[in-house]
Amino acid sequence: MILQSFPPMGVYETLFKFADATDSYMGEPGTHPWAQGFPLTTQLPGGPPIPRTITFTADDMKYPKATGNVELCRALAAYFNEFYDAGIDEEHVAVFAGGRPGIFATLAFLQPDTKVVVEETEYTPYYDILERLRRDYSLIPSNETNRFRPSEADYETALGSAASVMLVKSNPCNPTGVATRGDELKRLVEQVTRPGRAALIDEAYEFYCDPQPESALRHIDDIDATDIFVVGAATKGLQVPGARVGWVVAAKKHIEIFRNYSSFGMGGVSRASQLLVTELLELERARHAREAVRSFYSDQRQRYGHALAELGFELHTGDGGFYHWGRLPGELTADQFNRRLFEHNAGILPGPLCDMKRRKGADGPLSRYIRFSFGPLDAESFDANVAILKQCL
Ligand SMILES: Cc1ncc(COP(=O)(O)O)c(C=O)c1O
Repeated sequence: MILQSFPPMGVYETLFKFADATDSYMGEPGTHPWAQGFPLTTQLPGGPPIPRTITFTADDMKYPKATGNVELCRALAAYFNEFYDAGIDEEHVAVFAGGRPGIFATLAFLQPDTKVVVEETEYTPYYDILERLRRDYSLIPSNETNRFRPSEADYETALGSAASVMLVKSNPCNPTGVATRGDELKRLVEQVTRPGRAALIDEAYEFYCDPQPESALRHIDDIDATDIFVVGAATKGLQVPGARVGWVVAAKKHIEIFRNYSSFGMGGVSRASQLLVTELLELERARHAREAVRSFYSDQRQRYGHALAELGFELHTGDGGFYHWGRLPGELTADQFNRRLFEHNAGILPGPLCDMKRRKGADGPLSRYIRFSFGPLDAESFDANVAILKQCL
């Protein structure tokens, strides 16, 4: 084998197991894709329509600009300035083919001696990216003991006095939905603005946050004076995972590095996709979408929260994201639960796949934890979904 070999990211592990057990791909009609992290790609109740066509010219079929087309970078800067008073312009933005490529590029080009700190319970691919890049990383406690809510002191201890350290954090967190907001987020931004400190703040679920969307950019006075990278994507908030458009907002000197990388390693991002996302970001439309996403998914979070609690789950879910995070009732493990769910064409993401130490087996700390996704579920499927959960417990 000429290539180094490695397994797929954890969510795919579950999707393959599901496919083996059911002969279908999770997400196809007739399946209940509770393991998957995609949102509805249809118009939400009270929300703006999602365009079904885009118009482009011969010019749009030329190579894209390495860091993203100026129209999209401008639309993103205008968006963050409007909603968070970010004080940025188009040169603070780099466009990638989704959120993950932006995360990957940031971590790939870190200085070799920069230490990474990451919460113990986090977004599955962080583990794969850090392992594949052979980065040295240490964990911030996020477990049953602190209800998956690390404190300011926990961050401070982890950041410590290393000469160069980067915090990697999803906010709201996938899988827990715990959101760091307001003054707490302001203090976190201050903590990572000190000399020698950096942060990658992954805001893929920015719109999915009660009582309102939130961004670290609200608390950054001069991004050029920081080593903070705010990552986002059209994937969740704008409801177009298939467009494959994500971005990193950072100091201009960092965006230049992404430009240089794109010039040899990426070649830019599909101009057709960028046209679509530019249209979706038109400010009044974005305002409308933010409210519709927040409102629909907050209702769904509440409904499923009540139902799961009634079924005996011990939930630790925060106010953000589109997942419930909790412990199964009794002694059942998440893997055993999935085997039962597969018989109903349903499946959840087992907790150990969100453990940044990947402690597997029934004795692992997250073996009885599940991430239940209500992202892809329309409101009408609620009763049928709860009936399956009930039957499998
Ligand atoms: C925390 C988090 N960050 C980033 C992403 C980026 O997604 P994509 O690469 O599909 O745009 C996701 C999607 O699941 C996510 O959950």
